[in-house]
This record gives sequence, structure tokens and C-alpha cells, in this order.
Amino acid sequence: MKNNIHNRERILSLIGSYRITQALALGASLRLFDKLKTPKSLKTISLELGLDSAYLKRLLDLFIELQLLIKVRSRYMITKSGAWLCSDTEGSLKDFAKLMGADWYWEPWGKIEESMRKGKSAFLLYHGKSAFKFMEDRVDAANLFHSAMNSATEKIPNMIKKILKKKKWDGLAVADLGGGTGSLGIQFALQAPGVNTFILDLIHAKESARREISKNNLNSRVSFIACDFFKPLPKKYDLIILRHILHDWSDQLALKILKNAKKSLTPNGHIVVIERVLERRPNLAVLLMDIEMMAMMEGGHERSIRSFSNLFKKLNLKVRRKKWPEINRDMFLLTAK
Ligand SMILES: C[S@@+](CC[C@H](N)C(=O)[O-])C[C@H]1O[C@@H](n2cnc3c(N)ncnc32)[C@H](O)[C@@H]1O
Repeated sequence: MKNNIHNRERILSLIGSYRITQALALGASLRLFDKLKTPKSLKTISLELGLDSAYLKRLLDLFIELQLLIKVRSRYMITKSGAWLCSDTEGSLKDFAKLMGADWYWEPWGKIEESMRKGKSAFLLYHGKSAFKFMEDRVDAANLFHSAMNSATEKIPNMIKKILKKKKWDGLAVADLGGGTGSLGIQFALQAPGVNTFILDLIHAKESARREISKNNLNSRVSFIACDFFKPLPKKYDLIILRHILHDWSDQLALKILKNAKKSLTPNGHIVVIERVLERRPNLAVLLMDIEMMAMMEGGHERSIRSFSNLFKKLNLKVRRKKWPEINRDMFLLTAK
């Protein structure tokens, strides 16, 4: 069979994708993209970062090829794509890049074959405990994980308000269930001034969540509640948001979470689930996230609309669905009443 040499090169690059992951994680850790918001020479950047300039040049050349940097008159600068790796871009991917390259997150992938044979996550096989249990014992890992999750929340509250069409939000209680350090809950409180927001998550998220709440001067309206969503939830809520929660769990455990959420709704309350959805022909980003869930979470997986509907049906929840390309082209929203 005649084979195209370009195709071979493409596959060779795919095989070695780990080099891109690690290079991006390094660039993010060094805050290289932040530093190159203004054009700088190689000598200036290598001095600022304390790196060998010949080595650094090779990293910068790779980032130019990846269209994250450009070089104009011997000075390097970020492109529009590179700006996604800067700290202050709304929806920044900087901490996500750091997470993907972190040793504790990276090394379990070496167990992927054993994971597939045993039907257990590579994370559990490598660390001897689930990812969330691991984070309870490792504050640094928990902080990095939560920072990586804390992005692209700005547009969501107004979209939820639009779809729910409630006339009055004042005095309502909104829960961000599994809300981590609260980026979405905080954003909701900022966009709905009369609402009381509760961020519900495991105890390991408490410290960072409280810091974020104070930073936004929201101590009077946003609270962190340490809880386990597999047990009955404290309080009643008019709206419970679950963003990127169900995909971490098997159907059986996802049902348990939804059941507890349903029990905690006020009579006219709603649950909003925000997840990626597996289309009939899913794109690469969703397929990669599905593999990620397989490797990292016990029973975690992405779902099709039909699997979501089946989950909701089992709990007699009425489903409305909205596709939101504004927040992510793969992201859908399901509401239930
Ligand atoms: C994938 S993150 C999503 C975080 C956030 N909702 C977001 O969209 O950025 C999953 C969250 O579920 C939380 N979580 C995991 N197990 C939990 C449990 N048993 N009870 C409450 N929260 C839990 C984790 O700590 C983490 O913050």
C-alpha cells in the first residue's frame, strides 16, 4: 500500500504529543505567556526567567510553530492563541496546562493498559486512592486542580437567568454543587445582586473558596458549605447548578447526586446541569475528555443526550435542553424541574 509521507509525519507528531503537553505546562508554570504580552528579546526573557538562553530559544521556537508566539524584529510576543495561556484572560487555560503536566496527574497515565484490563482508573492504580481522596491529603494538588477548573464562568449566570425566565431573583438561594473554589457561584452572586449563593464542596476546597469570596467582597451573600453530595444536602435551594460534576461518576453515583439535589429543591426549584455532550460524531475535545475521565475518575465518562435523558427520567425530572456555543462549542445545558 502506498502511503503518504506527510501522514507519517502527522502520526509521528501525534505519538510524541507528550512533548507538547510538557512544553505547555512548563510555559504556563514559568508564566512565560504573561511575560510576553509585551515584546521581549531572548536575552531579556532568559534573564527574567533565569534560564539558559540557547535552551529557551528551542522552547520559544516550538511555541512559534504552535502559533502561540510570534517573533518580530528579534523580539518574541504572544499571539491571540497564546493569550489563552495568560493568567488574566477570562477563561484562561494556564492552570489547566499546569495541571496536565503536574507529576501526580501525569504519571498515572503509565498505568493505562492495566487500567483498561482491570476496569479501574489509572489514577487509583497508581496512587492507591481516587483523585478526590488524593486531593484531600495534598493541598497543593487540590489548589492546582481547583484553579484549573475555575475558568470560563463569566457568561453562564446570565444565560441561566435567561433560560429560567424568573421575574424575581431577590432573596433566592442558589447552590453551586461541587462548586470547587466557587468561580461560578461567585460570578452568579455578582450578576444577581439579591441572590444568596452557596458553594457546596468537600472540605479541601474551603480555604481557597473563602479566599475568593473575600477577594470579591461577597462575605455577606456567598457562603462555602463543606458537604458530601452523596449524602443529603444541607438547606433548600431555588436553583442548584452542577457544572462538570456528573461526568466524574458512574450512572449509579450520578443518580445518587441528582437524587440528593432533587430532595434539596424548593417547590419551584430547578436543577441546571452543564456538561459536554457526546454527539453522534463527537469531536476530538470531547473524546479526549472521555478518555481523561476513564483514566482519572472511577466510573467517570462523558454522556450522550440519550444517557442524560435516561438519568433524568429515572428521577422523574422534566428536561429542557439548550445548546450553548457561547460557553464552549461542545457544551450543552440541561434543565430539570
Ligand atoms: C470537575 S470539578 C468541577 C468543579 C466546578 N463545578 C467547575 O465546573 O469548575 C468536580 C468538583 O466536585 C467536587 N467533589 C468531588 N466529590 C465530591 C463529593 N463527594 N461531595 C461534594 N463535592 C465533591 C470536587 O472537589 C470538585 O470541586
